[in-house]
Amino acid sequence: MAKIKVRVKTGTLHKEPCEIGAVYLFEQSPLSPVAKVLDKALGRAISNLLKKGEFKPGLNKSYLLHTYGKVPAKRLLLLGLGKKKDLSFDKLRQATATAARETRDLGLKGLTLPLYPIVLNYVSKTSQSVVEGALLGLYRFERFKHPEPEEKRELETVTLLVEGARQLGEAKRGVRRGETIAEAACFTRDLVNLPPNEATPDMLTRTARDAARRLGLKVKVWKGDALKKLGMGGIIAVGKGSSNPPQLVALEYGTRGRGDTVALVGKGVTFDSGGISIKPSRDMDKMKGDMAGAATVLGAIRALARLKVPLHIIGLLPLAENMPSGTASRPGDIITCLGGKTVEIITTDAEGRLIVGDALAYARRYKPRAMIDLATLTGACVVALGNTATGMLGNSEELKKRIKEAGEASWERVWELPLWDDYDELIKSDIADMKNAGPGVAGAITGACFLKKFVEDYPWVHLDIAGTAWADKNGPYWREGGTGAGVRLLVELLSGWSKFPAKK
Ligand code: BES
Ligand code: MN
Ligand code: ZN
Repeated sequence: MAKIKVRVKTGTLHKEPCEIGAVYLFEQSPLSPVAKVLDKALGRAISNLLKKGEFKPGLNKSYLLHTYGKVPAKRLLLLGLGKKKDLSFDKLRQATATAARETRDLGLKGLTLPLYPIVLNYVSKTSQSVVEGALLGLYRFERFKHPEPEEKRELETVTLLVEGARQLGEAKRGVRRGETIAEAACFTRDLVNLPPNEATPDMLTRTARDAARRLGLKVKVWKGDALKKLGMGGIIAVGKGSSNPPQLVALEYGTRGRGDTVALVGKGVTFDSGGISIKPSRDMDKMKGDMAGAATVLGAIRALARLKVPLHIIGLLPLAENMPSGTASRPGDIITCLGGKTVEIITTDAEGRLIVGDALAYARRYKPRAMIDLATLTGACVVALGNTATGMLGNSEELKKRIKEAGEASWERVWELPLWDDYDELIKSDIADMKNAGPGVAGAITGACFLKKFVEDYPWVHLDIAGTAWADKNGPYWREGGTGAGVRLLVELLSGWSKFPAKK
């Protein structure tokens, strides 16, 4: 990620010398006071464009004006925000991403954003959203591409203008938080976008160790015989067809007793070919993103540690590559997972639940107040909810409520699907404790039903990020590929965490 400097200062745009300044405009609303002053200085250029309908300030629409010395800003970028009554933090995130990308594409180095026309209740949350928008919007995955000259352009500075010195502190706090969160989400995006020949289980373990060293986290890794001895039958069954050995990584931030213990589990299938139940080749390359859960947990812990959240957080990353080979698991195999439950493997393509199940069973050893797993678990969840909402299933009303609210606040929204016992029927096996796939109905629920068997009575929520972790096309503040979905949600949830009630 290119390093972009974010500054905060007091000032007003009509007096501020800069390369380009954003003028926020609403549909069918009068100009803001600062836009009015600029409009007057420019001989009514702005109001004329609006009146003639040459520029309609819909969300993410923009229009570039040169000022020819009439105001200290060399250029103004008219920036549409849609209707004023519909303004939200996410719309600020989106519009700022648009402004930052356009500035970069123009080859300019500095963008100035006046906050005062758009402050939504809190200066800190407004600045956080604006900074997230700029940094997420500028993201691109450039590790393997020799850039074209125009792709070498980089924005260097974003300047937020606040009205008075009184707001400086709050704005700076929001900026720092926004920077930390966006950096973590981009770190997660990078991992998801890495090709599967690079992002192997070994490489993700190295990345976790590296993060742990920098952030002062404890880290434990099991592979080979140690993994077998631990009883990780699911992780071994999924990884044994690959020459890249499976492993389990446990990260620990904080210490027991320092706030609630919360366990985060992230599915880390570095490539999901389907195994012997091989997938169709169309879009199989996207299955490099099947480790997004693990990448999200890593990214979130990184941000939470930097924000010094007063909790004890366990991150568990079961890592494996699902490949077909002479040593691979077969449909029909019966394996024993951690905790002793036997599983009849109906399809080797329902591999995520096997590794996440093991990790959830292991998480119980920490006696956590809450467990959350994130997994690109089912295509069925993508069918149900598309790319807009993460599927949420779990056994704790309180935890689901908190996650739903954190989803609204971070705009990484979740939608609940039922997890009634009635569905357990679907994964009953005649010859083992359960099977790893049902008859094909209620696919997202079946996956969660399977995981439920590993959590006992611990408050637990499963987040199916199959649709949200990966984007098929560019959006307002994401590119095609890994989105980093879940990082903002987890940081919102855990940085606002209050003691979890003993009963679920
Ligand atoms: N990793 C896939 C799920 C997936 C699909 C993620 C599309 C992202 C986009 C998972 O391992 C899988 O293959 N699930 C199967 C389960 C089925 C065989 C019970 C599925 O969804 O088809
Ligand atoms: Mn699969
Ligand atoms: Zn998978």
